[in-house]
Amino acid sequence: MAGTVPVRITVNGEARESEVEPRLLLVHYLRDVLGLTGTHVGCDTTNCGACTVHLDGEAVKSCTVLAVQAHGAEVTTIEGLAPGPDELHPLQEAFWADHALQCGYCTPGMIMAAADLLKRTPHPTEEEVRHGLEGNLCRCTGYQNIVKAVLDAAEAGAEGRVETPPVAQPAAADAIGGGVGA
Ligand code: FES
Ligand code: FES
Repeated sequence: MAGTVPVRITVNGEARESEVEPRLLLVHYLRDVLGLTGTHVGCDTTNCGACTVHLDGEAVKSCTVLAVQAHGAEVTTIEGLAPGPDELHPLQEAFWADHALQCGYCTPGMIMAAADLLKRTPHPTEEEVRHGLEGNLCRCTGYQNIVKAVLDAAEAGAEGRVETPPVAQPAAADAIGGGVGA
C-alpha cells in the first residue's frame, strides 16, 4: 500500500504483521488495527497513562510511541496480562477485591504500570506505589483503593507473574481492566 511501511510486532505472545502509516501511534495500532481496545486513550498528550502497555517488558505510554518504533519488539497489553482465559492476574484480582476502580477507564493503564512497578520493586512501600503510579491519572477513585490493591497484589506474589503469557486475549481479563470504556 502506498505510503505505508511493514511492521512486525509480537503482541501478547503472538507475532503480528501489518502495513501501517509511519505516523500511526502504537495505541491506535493496538486498538484500531489489532482490535485490542483494552488499551485506552485518555488524553493523547502523555498525561493520563490510560494507554500504558509494556514494550519489551517496560511500561510505556503507547500514545507517545509510533507503531514503527515497536517494530521487532514485544508488546503486552492488558488483554495479555492474565495467565489464562479463566484466571486473572493477581493485580486484576486485587483491583476487583479492593474496589480499586469505578468507571474503569484508567484501570488497564493503572494495572500495566503497577505490573511494571512490581517487577522492578516486588515489595514496595505505599510511598513507592504512589510514586510509581504518578504518571497515571484516575478521575474517580481518589487513589486510596488503587494503592491498597497494588500493595495487596505485591503481598500475593504478583511480581513473579508479570511476563508476557503465550496466549492472548483471555476473556476473564477483559472483565477487569480490559473491556471497560473501550
Ligand atoms: Fe496516552 Fe493519556 S492517552 S497518556
Ligand atoms: Fe474512573 Fe479511574 S476509575 S478514571
